[in-house]
Amino acid sequence: MSAGRIDPATLEWLELAAPADAFDEPALTRIHRYVAVANAVTQAFWGDDSHDTTVGEILASLTGDEDEDTRRLLVVHEGRDVARAVASVAREEGSSVGYVSAWVVPAARGRGIGRAVATRIEEVARSIGATTLQAWVDHRAPAEGEEAVAAVSGHGAVAADAAARLALSLGYALEQVDRISVLDVEAARAALEGHRAAALAAAGDAYAVRSWSGRTPTELAEGLAALHGRMVTDAPAAGLDVDDETWDVARLERSERQQEASGLELVQAIAIHVPTGEPVAFTWIAVPADGRPAYQEDTLVHAEHRGHRLGMLVKAENLLQLGRLHPDRARILTWNAEENRPMLAVNEVLGFVAVGAEGGWQRRLALLDGGAAAA
Ligand SMILES: CC(C)(COP(=O)(O)OP(=O)(O)OC[C@H]1O[C@@H](n2cnc3c(N)ncnc32)[C@H](O)[C@@H]1OP(=O)(O)O)[C@@H](O)C(=O)NCCC(=O)NCCS
Repeated sequence: MSAGRIDPATLEWLELAAPADAFDEPALTRIHRYVAVANAVTQAFWGDDSHDTTVGEILASLTGDEDEDTRRLLVVHEGRDVARAVASVAREEGSSVGYVSAWVVPAARGRGIGRAVATRIEEVARSIGATTLQAWVDHRAPAEGEEAVAAVSGHGAVAADAAARLALSLGYALEQVDRISVLDVEAARAALEGHRAAALAAAGDAYAVRSWSGRTPTELAEGLAALHGRMVTDAPAAGLDVDDETWDVARLERSERQQEASGLELVQAIAIHVPTGEPVAFTWIAVPADGRPAYQEDTLVHAEHRGHRLGMLVKAENLLQLGRLHPDRARILTWNAEENRPMLAVNEVLGFVAVGAEGGWQRRLALLDGGAAAA
């Protein structure tokens, strides 16, 4: 690829669409090309395929995601696929946060493509209702003496890499930093029974633990849906705007169906408050079919039931279940806010080790564009 800055007008923007049938071209090829671009970016950053996406995941989102309006662009320059971008806004009434992402393949960087793609995807986010833009970006934690950007929250920092410089120059603030950690499941296994037993003893007779794989049993769905609804209000968000989410049984079912359609198996554990029979804590792991690392997804203990080791209880139980169901799954990845001490403490005891820092960047459009400065 020739060097020098590109003229943004020479970029071609191809939006992904749900294929009409199994032979719909060019829709299908476009999805494959998009996935290849995305994986070129994550593989360059992580050095392996641990953060790959799949055609199945993109297809499931294009055809079945009823809760989010997501637009995906494949960006072409002089016949080559050079970037991919995403903008997404929740469909729930009153939603205002647009999640944006702009990724340029390593061979095409440093020529102004990232800036052009970021600018374009902001317009797309705005067109589907965003008044606040947020971008979650993979970074390294800053090395000793390396230039860094500190989170506004006061917790954590990221290396001042190309993505950080681009975000700053576009007016984004680094509101929050998530620690990205990995668990070596084999090394952790020996201690899990002990962690589970100690947590169960600390929790006492008022709590019981239960686990399953796949969809939530009907009798637990209502209680679990209510707990899911608390994630947006209870998880630390620092200065990031958060849209309300209404969770009922139908939404829980949609969410689980969506995960399965993406090729992810759900591995779940909950704690039940015995006197009421209600679920009061949950955690779940998403297991990709193709052998990639599993994802430790949300964990939550209801505010009225904290301080009883229920976080450790459900996590240890679920990791034991994962070991029984997928003894070959060697690694689990997770993301936790740097200020989320209680959750980090549980993960550190389990053996999770930091491997990166994800930056939660935010720019409020309403503030920037509300007055005469709009031009
Ligand atoms: C961040 C990224 C999109 C930049 O893409 P790019 O095509 O190289 O970006 P541009 O050439 O338009 O440069 C944009 C700005 O990024 C920064 N930048 C780019 N290359 C850089 C480098 N090698 N060192 C430091 N800063 C750099 C500069 O601030 C630059 O500003 P300029 O336009 O005044 O030169 C690209 O590196 C990438 O895809 N990284 C991985 C995915 C990612 O983190 N995306 C970001 C948001 S989701």
